[in-house]
Amino acid sequence: MIEKKLSIEEIKARLKVVCICKGIKQARICEAIERGADTVEKVNKVTGSGSGGCNATRCGPVIKKLVENKGRVLLEPYKTEIEDDDLNF
Ligand code: FES
Repeated sequence: MIEKKLSIEEIKARLKVVCICKGIKQARICEAIERGADTVEKVNKVTGSGSGGCNATRCGPVIKKLVENKGRVLLEPYKTEIEDDDLNF
């Protein structure tokens, strides 16, 4: 197995939390996609993302983008915050 050297930016991006409700980092989401989870639903099933209090309002769009990106880490900033009105508590 060839180990790829990661840049500082890539390491930081991989450590960034995607699913805030469940504390799931981008690296875990990308790993699930690399292992065959090719839909948001499959990623959520494998990782447990999307099942928190916000019902994937925050993480869903980012996971969708990662699936479309074939699991390549997003280096650009992404937003996972929502307004209080978006929550259904
Ligand atoms: S951030 Fe993922 S379920 Fe809320």
